[in-house]
Amino acid sequence: MYNPMSLEGKRILVTGASSGIGAACAIEASKLGASLVLTGRREDALKGTLEACTGSGHAIIPGDITSNLFVDDLIARSAVLDGLVYAAGIAPMIPARYISEDKMLETFRVNCFAFLRIIGLLSQNKFHKSPFSAVAISSTSAFVGVPGGAVYCASKGAMSASIKALAVELSPKGMRVNSVCPSTIRTPMFEREVGGNAQLSEGLVAKIREKQPLGIGLPGQVASVVCFLLSEASSFMTGTDVLVDGGKLAL
Ligand SMILES: NC(=O)c1ccc[n+]([C@@H]2O[C@H](COP(=O)([O-])OP(=O)(O)OC[C@H]3O[C@@H](n4cnc5c(N)ncnc54)[C@H](OP(=O)(O)O)[C@@H]3O)[C@@H](O)[C@H]2O)c1
Repeated sequence: MYNPMSLEGKRILVTGASSGIGAACAIEASKLGASLVLTGRREDALKGTLEACTGSGHAIIPGDITSNLFVDDLIARSAVLDGLVYAAGIAPMIPARYISEDKMLETFRVNCFAFLRIIGLLSQNKFHKSPFSAVAISSTSAFVGVPGGAVYCASKGAMSASIKALAVELSPKGMRVNSVCPSTIRTPMFEREVGGNAQLSEGLVAKIREKQPLGIGLPGQVASVVCFLLSEASSFMTGTDVLVDGGKLAL
């Protein structure tokens, strides 16, 4: 049956695959036929994602994405790739007066520098096929402020700016580079921010709905858009930030 979203035969590297949005992207991509390389620091959690994936030929390669040695090894062991989902990220909320160089570097290393390093390596012809599609998980925080979010917002703004330059530079190689910008999505990152994974209070749910008309999002609702961008259904899209924000920026 004709399916323009098919990822059959495509090999895709997913960072942040041990949790939340990255895990959902891996599971959704596997349902569409992709074979996956899953990475994140926690091997047990990666095994959990692997078990939830359908199909075969997947691999897990655990490690710290901020280590250059690890990233070199990851790309060398991933075989020639058709796509990348960069979902690794951290979101420290740091009031302005407590911002330190260490915190800035830590945040940028995960949210931005490692993404650029991976794309840089993948741009070598031996590591990517053509067509190739990279999808970076940015955030609405690239465009709107949150108190305590100056460092996080800056890291996502940098990511969203970088995809435009990468898209222009890498298009002759058949490589597309886009980002997806979610608003508040119910993942372990969000659960940590609100202090646990218990049932959300009615008050919090109502407060979120005031800021994003469709309420709190789910990881699968981000993953389906990521898979669209990985697939040939989006073959004329590059250098674009796609909002998956439940209407947040429409307010
Ligand atoms: N949830 C939201 O509301 C929301 C909204 C907008 C954007 N986002 C963005 O979406 C992305 C995924 O977030 P999420 O909500 O799914 O968060 P999450 O559940 O906390 O997942 C974060 C992922 O990043 C990986 N990671 C963090 N530091 C790493 C490191 N040094 N090396 C390798 N992997 C590392 C983690 O793996 P290990 O712990 O196993 O290393 C984990 O798989 C992030 O970039 C986040 O900024 C999230």
